[in-house]
Amino acid sequence: MKSAKLAFGALLVAVIALPAVGDDDQDQQSYWMKKKLEFSEHILKGLALADFDAIIKSADSMRNMSVLEKLSRRTHADEYRAQLSIFQASTKQLIREAEKKNIDGTALAFTQMTLSCVNCHKVLRDSAK
Ligand code: HEC
Repeated sequence: MKSAKLAFGALLVAVIALPAVGDDDQDQQSYWMKKKLEFSEHILKGLALADFDAIIKSADSMRNMSVLEKLSRRTHADEYRAQLSIFQASTKQLIREAEKKNIDGTALAFTQMTLSCVNCHKVLRDSAK
């Protein structure tokens, strides 16, 4: 469990350390992203405590938010949309595993979701070049 915690920590740091993508006019979107970061932290805490209700609550908010994001975002590049779908699929999986109270499955789905944060930001950085 210790190494799993370390891996989560490293992934979160990787996400937090992303360079600022986008500048002005992005306030609304940044708000969502800060929320995503907050929900990920809640999920991580829920995982550490095996608090499945807390995990489901945050994952559900995250998923609802990404549906709104899909509707409102102006950038609709194929790769971006693909990353958004992966993100949505992994939050769905996270909820499913948490409902089964399967801690290993939940931890794996959380890792997949975190990787989708990293990958979507990677796509954004590459397309900004
Ligand atoms: C489908 C693409 C996508 C996914 C998935 C995604 N993000 Fe983002 N993220 C963006 C975009 C676009 C921006 C830049 C514009 C903005 O602030 O919304 C961004 C910016 C950010 C920022 C910087 C916000 C700021 O105030 O400058 C953080 C932090 C962040 N994301 C966290 C996360 C976390 C944590 C996850 C996963 C739980 C995640 N993101 C998943 C697209 C994504």
